[in-house]
Amino acid sequence: MKRILFSILPLLILLNACEESPLTDQVEQQKTEETVVLNQYLKLSEQASQYSDLDLPDFFNFQNNTEQDNTPSNNPITDWGATLGRVLFYDVNLSANNTISCASCHVQELGFSDNNLLSLGFDGGQTGRNSMGLSNSRYYENGHFFWDERASSLEDQVLMPIQDAVEMGLSLEELETKVASQPYYPTLFTKVYGDENVTPNRIALALSQFVRSIVSYQSKYDEGRAQVNRPDDNFPNFSNLENLGKRVFFSNQTNCSNCHTSDLFVGDEAINNGLDATLNDFGLGDVTGRNQDDGKFKTGSLRNIEITAPYMHDGRFETLEEVVEHYNSGIQNSPNLDTRLTTRNGNPVRMNLNNEEKAALVAFMKTLTDYKLIEDEKFSNPFIEN
Ligand code: HEC
Ligand code: HEC
Repeated sequence: MKRILFSILPLLILLNACEESPLTDQVEQQKTEETVVLNQYLKLSEQASQYSDLDLPDFFNFQNNTEQDNTPSNNPITDWGATLGRVLFYDVNLSANNTISCASCHVQELGFSDNNLLSLGFDGGQTGRNSMGLSNSRYYENGHFFWDERASSLEDQVLMPIQDAVEMGLSLEELETKVASQPYYPTLFTKVYGDENVTPNRIALALSQFVRSIVSYQSKYDEGRAQVNRPDDNFPNFSNLENLGKRVFFSNQTNCSNCHTSDLFVGDEAINNGLDATLNDFGLGDVTGRNQDDGKFKTGSLRNIEITAPYMHDGRFETLEEVVEHYNSGIQNSPNLDTRLTTRNGNPVRMNLNNEEKAALVAFMKTLTDYKLIEDEKFSNPFIEN
């Protein structure tokens, strides 16, 4: 009996070993196959880049900034979630004829906007309005998106350009099929959601994570802000002109900072800033159907404003000098003109800025350009070709 046991024991051990090693081998092999497939199409490292838990400056955690964060509790940013979002953002397969991606109209070097008056869609058609920069769009308290605020959340917004007849031209069914048939998505979806299943909702969640991860916090303004107690203290790293511009921006003479508020220079509602006496785009008014909303548009962040020209919902101003001149001398009266831009008796305000003050305002706005953000590889095109 003992002899038999002794002779089959090594065999048993051997059997056992044989049973185990092919399995782990299989897993390992599958992993390398996945990496090979990913590496064939994408420049991604094994470790996802860091999109969550950014090392934000202290003042970003002040309440006036954090209260504007529109990240919903069911879609916090994760590193792989935003990575999947990045791939989708740059993927031309999200358009009907595989010619354009989100990034065609939201270019990293241009603060995630483009430099056209109106943008061109997949078939050469023009969009109805000027492309919006996406820096810090995570910070907008009411969480509404688009110039007319017609999307009530970012998760709703990101599927709209895909389905737009001019922009990308796909139905949600087509989107699902096209995404599911790209060889690199099964691995990415599995990393984020635990299985390969592609759904429009999962696409929306990942795209939103990527867009929310585009946070600008390393501009010249941020460097100066970290060195003082209050935003209206003189910044040691600013030129005299930039500090003057900051004072003018925060002054009651202009009220700029009463609409473009906090260190994020963002509003929390659509406003009429006196562009037109007679409207041809009713903005929020067309969405709500209420007269008191006519001519109101989203007060988006001024971060990276220098590089997101042209300006306003219709791209009517080519330069920041023109924008400043609009506020200085060109405010148009209309029933919904915001009272921050009227005199006490209700007329459009005339700011009477001198040339130095106007130049200073422009110089100040240029301190909001974040060169680190627009060069950061984790926001760049991950595709090897296209
Ligand atoms: C053909 C050009 C084009 C494409 C493609 C495009 N966009 Fe846009 N995007 C625009 C324009 C134009 C607007 C402003 C439209 C409006 O307000 O009516 C805009 C607005 C936005 C906004 C609103 C920003 C804010 O602060 O309210 C977000 C977010 C956005 N786009 C994300 C995306 C994503 C994600 C994709 C890809 C799924 C995408 N865009 C594809 C042109 C484009
Ligand atoms: C009453 C609120 C209000 C005040 C005051 C105000 N703005 Fe604006 N600003 C807005 C709104 C709303 C928009 C978007 C309007 C549109 O496109 O129809 C805007 C747009 C802009 C834009 C263009 C943004 C883009 O993405 O194209 C710049 C630049 C700007 N403002 C700078 C300033 C400066 C500088 C001042 C002070 C001289 C100022 N604003 C004062 C509400 C205001």
